[in-house]
Amino acid sequence: MNYPNNRQWLINGNPRGRALAATDFKYNEAAPGILEAGDVRVRVETLGFDPSQKGQLENVSGYASGNDIGMVMKARGVGEIIESRDEKCPVGSKVLGNLGWQEYVVMRGKALEIVPNDAFLSARLGPLGGTGLTAYFGLLRVGLPEPGDTVVVSGAAGAVGSIVGQIAKIMGCRTVGIAGGEQKCAWLVDELGYDAAIDYKEGQVKSQLKQLCPDGINVFFDNVGGPILNDALARIAPFARVVICGGISRYEQSQLPAGPANYFNIVFRQAVMQGFLLTGYEQDYTRARERIMTWMQAGQVVHKEDVQEGFENIPATLSRLFSGQNFGKQLLRL
Ligand SMILES: NC(=O)c1ccc[n+]([C@@H]2O[C@H](COP(=O)([O-])OP(=O)(O)OC[C@H]3O[C@@H](n4cnc5c(N)ncnc54)[C@H](OP(=O)(O)O)[C@@H]3O)[C@@H](O)[C@H]2O)c1
Repeated sequence: MNYPNNRQWLINGNPRGRALAATDFKYNEAAPGILEAGDVRVRVETLGFDPSQKGQLENVSGYASGNDIGMVMKARGVGEIIESRDEKCPVGSKVLGNLGWQEYVVMRGKALEIVPNDAFLSARLGPLGGTGLTAYFGLLRVGLPEPGDTVVVSGAAGAVGSIVGQIAKIMGCRTVGIAGGEQKCAWLVDELGYDAAIDYKEGQVKSQLKQLCPDGINVFFDNVGGPILNDALARIAPFARVVICGGISRYEQSQLPAGPANYFNIVFRQAVMQGFLLTGYEQDYTRARERIMTWMQAGQVVHKEDVQEGFENIPATLSRLFSGQNFGKQLLRL
């Protein structure tokens, strides 16, 4: 069987302290490659996008790390095995793994997870993948929500934030989401069941938090940092838990802001502010995925996908996350 050349996007820049640029990626065409025993050839079908991919580029540190100038940009994706020299990976199987920004990939079959070709295929890059697990462990293991708590989420209409708010509701909490724009705020309340939403682009976040959280914020799940974190810290309740999951407002800044001026409220309120990384929770992934799947099947967790199309649009699709153009989990179908 003859396979076409493989179109790829290679790392070509180090966008530290600045926005992503088209020149950070370089188009390449590689020969199709030949399979060794244990290898499979995968046709990449759908790629997932995550703000941490910019971090990958900022920390290019040589071939051992898998991120360096000239390497294929890493990305998780879903694809189909079209050729196999691994008997455990039959042709036609749908697979999940680090497929990268390319049309085809030759890799070890054992580095891939075979997944069912069902209605949840792309959700394995979202609520059933790292996105959902981040929401689940960040909220439940660090945020420690109790029934009746007020949980405030920044980046609430994003892939992680939208799941956090719904899990908090399942836990019996009151939820307030902070997001950019009227449409996203309406979605939070009308479709996701948030009790209230604040459009930070309209300003007045601090006064709205005061009005919407009269007894204070028990759990603040922060995806954004910057002035929004500062405003939330002004409103935390006694013994609040502040989960630092992300800080997207700073990811493109050359001059990092000073620490939040209101941090001393952590002392007055005897609160805890804790950074969160998904690393370390691997032993509980299966159980967490099962629970999220159950909630999805029961309609208690819904999700939205923002699906762009076409190999040539891959680099521009990553930039959508930093301008808030994405509405839902950012994906791209090749
Ligand atoms: N700690 C971990 O293990 C872990 C794992 C995964 C993700 N994360 C973090 O979680 C956060 C959300 O990731 P995601 O994949 O769910 O992305 P996402 O929320 O789906 O997309 C990013 C969103 O961030 C918002 N945004 C962009 N620039 C902003 C700014 N300057 N100020 C305020 N909001 C801004 C935009 O929403 P609006 O339109 O509402 O502005 C945009 O849609 C990121 O900070 C990411 O780094 C952490």
